[in-house]
Amino acid sequence: MARLLHIDSSSSKDSVSRSLAARYREVWDKEHGADSVTYRDLAAEPVPHLDPDAVVTLWAPPATEAQRATAALQERLVGELLAADALLISVPMYNWTIPSVLKAWLDQSLILGRTLPYDPSSKPLGGRPATVLVACGGFYGEGSPDAGMDHCRPYLRTVLGQVLGYEVEMITAWRTLAGAGAGSPEEAELAGASLREARELVGVRAAALRGAPAVGAV
Ligand SMILES: Cc1cc2nc3c(=O)[nH]c(=O)nc-3n(C[C@H](O)[C@H](O)[C@H](O)COP(=O)(O)O)c2cc1C
Repeated sequence: MARLLHIDSSSSKDSVSRSLAARYREVWDKEHGADSVTYRDLAAEPVPHLDPDAVVTLWAPPATEAQRATAALQERLVGELLAADALLISVPMYNWTIPSVLKAWLDQSLILGRTLPYDPSSKPLGGRPATVLVACGGFYGEGSPDAGMDHCRPYLRTVLGQVLGYEVEMITAWRTLAGAGAGSPEEAELAGASLREARELVGVRAAALRGAPAVGAV
């Protein structure tokens, strides 16, 4: 059976990125069943930020009780990534980048030789599909005046795509603040169109991954 690792990272209850992930799950769950999903809500249950014990256990075997507890957490997170045939991450843009809870999850999950490749030609997670669903209050699309301020989407492309080797599809809902009433009617219209397009693209992406082969399957 194909397995999905689903990560939500918005602190908002009324979250656009979470709603896009929910749309993906409608399609995935129908095909594979909800029990094929490992779910982490990083806002509700944050992964701790790296502390001195966690920095040690990223590189060396644990030597103390505290380090053994940290190593066990890292092992669990690594196990979830390695077991997942597909990755789904929903991401709000906070202060021009990813939320700190998502960064903490990455920091504890990317372990050299386990998930992070020693050798760029052999990537443990390489080739698996990762769907990244982003909600931005403003607009930072390619060629726009503020595109260079986006340290959220390019960062995730670098880490998930270039470094880990995932086949990344990124779908973005733009101008969500205007969509929530904090902009002109023209901006609100653009926000509505962007959200509708994002929802449609998410449905297409999830449907395209139907019947995704399980890890190790040909
Ligand atoms: C703490 C915080 C920081 C934000 N920073 C930015 C930002 O730098 N650029 C931007 O366009 N929108 C910013 N926003 C707006 C969010 O990107 C927008 O509300 C988005 O829809 C959040 O995703 P969500 O709806 O999934 O929670 C910020 C919102 C919050 C709560």
